[in-house]
Amino acid sequence: MSFGNNLIQWYLENDRDLPWRKSKDPYVIWLSEIMLQQTRVAQGLPYFLSFIKHFPTVFDLANAPEAKVLKLWQGLGYYSRARNLHFTAKYVANECNGIFPGTYKDLLKLKGVGDYTASAIASICYQEPVAVVDGNVYRVLARYLGIATPINTTKGIKEFKAVAQELLEPSEPGNYNQALMDFGALHCKPQNPLCSTCIFSESCVAFRSHQVKELPVKEKKLKVKKRYFNYLVVDTEKEATVLEERKGKGIWQGLYQFPLVEGKGEVSEEELLQSARFQELVHHKEVSVSLFNEKAVVHKLSHQHLYTNFWIVNTPSVTEETISWNEVKQKPVPVLIDKFLKEYLKEEL
Ligand code: ADE
Repeated sequence: MSFGNNLIQWYLENDRDLPWRKSKDPYVIWLSEIMLQQTRVAQGLPYFLSFIKHFPTVFDLANAPEAKVLKLWQGLGYYSRARNLHFTAKYVANECNGIFPGTYKDLLKLKGVGDYTASAIASICYQEPVAVVDGNVYRVLARYLGIATPINTTKGIKEFKAVAQELLEPSEPGNYNQALMDFGALHCKPQNPLCSTCIFSESCVAFRSHQVKELPVKEKKLKVKKRYFNYLVVDTEKEATVLEERKGKGIWQGLYQFPLVEGKGEVSEEELLQSARFQELVHHKEVSVSLFNEKAVVHKLSHQHLYTNFWIVNTPSVTEETISWNEVKQKPVPVLIDKFLKEYLKEEL
């Protein structure tokens, strides 16, 4: 028997008694699937029952005030889901006569409906053969087939969708998808999976090669560091400025930048004027400082986000060597500074 048929057999004997399983109404399935995203069934269940009681049809949900929808959602988290849910209910009620789109492809066009939800609705309600991939599915397939591609990468997402699709039992796509999700939730659990009583233990690659604990693989995302850059953009009487080369290892080694004051957080004008770098650079009594950008410019690098302010320092002269704005244009600078220069010089010249 195929993987899919074995799985469906298991499901018929072990499936969870969940209220939305009695229905093939896309409104009911859509509601349950949106609620269960990033949420365990036990946590989502009371919310589902409460929503169905208050809003038995898509028209009831569409006509409800947003505050009521959000109130009933309270505690479930990810409130954008609730707002998208309400938006889509209004769209389906008002623009589609209350009838949900009838295919995976058209379901995807609804706000808040991604690959997972569209596949779930299309397979459960319309028997369309499209595979659902959720956290449970990643785990079961990674172990069963011994796939070590990280599940939180573009490559992994593509690979697992293709594999789930290949294994899908086309005669019963809704049951296959829900069987896979239930099998992951109840049997092939993240911790302490029930391998000794598993129907797939003979063919499960992870079980046979003692890799159950290692699969699935998730790529560790490095924490993004926030840095606060304040550039001193000197503009002298002679239409010149100060640039310095970034020395040492690290980002932008060898590129040029304005004198930099880096803060632990956003730096006020007062703090800037007190900073050692400002004090060594500016001795002239005549000086005015103003912020060029209204809000910090956020420059995103792979592992750091730079919150950057460009402070224009107008003063007749400074203590360090200056270069003309024309020379500045010849220097290699980070994109962040290049963008600033284009804006600043457009105004100045
Ligand atoms: N988790 C989210 N949706 C589910 C479904 N339809 N069956 C099993 N688990 C789920």
